Amino acid sequence: MSDDHLLRTRFTERFNLRHPIVCAPMALVTGGRLARAVSRAGGLGVVGGGYAGVLGGEPDLAAELTLARRETFGVGFITWALAKAPQRLEEALAYGPSCVFLSFGDPRPFAPVIHGHGARLICQAQTLRHIDEALDAGADAIVAQGTEAGGHGGARSTLPFVPEAADHIARRSPDTLLLAAGGIADGRGLAAALMLGADGVVVGTRFWASAEALTPQAATDLAERSTGDDTIRTTAIDALRGVDWPDEFSFRVLKNDLTAAWAGRETEARAAFGSLREVYDEARARGDLRTAATVAGEAVGRIRDRPAAADIVESMTREAWARLSIAAARLTRPGNWPSMHNR
Ligand SMILES: Cc1cc2nc3c(=O)[nH]c(=O)nc-3n(C[C@H](O)[C@H](O)[C@H](O)COP(=O)(O)O)c2cc1C
Repeated sequence: MSDDHLLRTRFTERFNLRHPIVCAPMALVTGGRLARAVSRAGGLGVVGGGYAGVLGGEPDLAAELTLARRETFGVGFITWALAKAPQRLEEALAYGPSCVFLSFGDPRPFAPVIHGHGARLICQAQTLRHIDEALDAGADAIVAQGTEAGGHGGARSTLPFVPEAADHIARRSPDTLLLAAGGIADGRGLAAALMLGADGVVVGTRFWASAEALTPQAATDLAERSTGDDTIRTTAIDALRGVDWPDEFSFRVLKNDLTAAWAGRETEARAAFGSLREVYDEARARGDLRTAATVAGEAVGRIRDRPAAADIVESMTREAWARLSIAAARLTRPGNWPSMHNR
């Protein structure tokens, strides 16, 4: 892609990137190969440190960080889990990530260690309270995550949450960067996020179905046959498998037999905490997606292939650039309304 077609934002300038695209630190999915591929393509790959080893069954983080470190990379943790194993942060920082991405919990206790190592802090937020905590922590960038997102998240929708976050941050700390997440899987989403006031985007589901992701093939095959209507947010899975997520977060996954059986029974599932732990773990080990979750967001409806991560970065940027550069001219000319759908 020629330099004329680059989207330049405060985020690309400060993080020294070619494209304002971050690959989310997806637990069990964003290993070193995927993070490296996204960074090599000009975005920012963030290795998924997930539950910081607290849960077990996660990839060896040291091995993944070793793979990633041939390029600039970040590392991400689920904050409430990291609080149970804080030494994991220092261990990860020893690999020299350019940034640490924290989500789902209070980032403030970790900020001094991260900045002390010369790394930047990116905090993912689901509410304005989370944004305030991130600002208090001195975050360099804040991700406003909409409920459309795959995996864990909150209740706000990307479309109104991102501009509200932009205004809030502009009032309190205008220098802090804003990234948008949740449902962004192509150039239209990237262009829209920039128009909402974001300096860049965090993309999960689209990279979940990339060649370099650790995602099982059966899961992305299923995704290719699914639409956004096929996802659901639920707290039942975590309760039944005995993972103690804070109440304010739920899990967006593809509907399956387990979500159908427990639909509308979340309080009951909470009371049955951990009762399906073995059943669930065995189903996951067998790759039985009728019981084990296929973790993807509403953007799953845009997944019809499993390309190389570099092709995703390239096509998102190219499409966003084309749309942004032609839309104003076309939309403001009466009688010449463009068709903005993708063929
Ligand atoms: C499979 C999967 C696993 C995820 N795991 C994590 C995680 O471990 N930590 C985290 O901060 N976010 C995680 N997320 C959420 C992402 O950070 C991001 O907010 C989300 O993927 C953006 O929405 P999208 O999926 O529509 O692109 C995960 C998302 C997916 C799809």
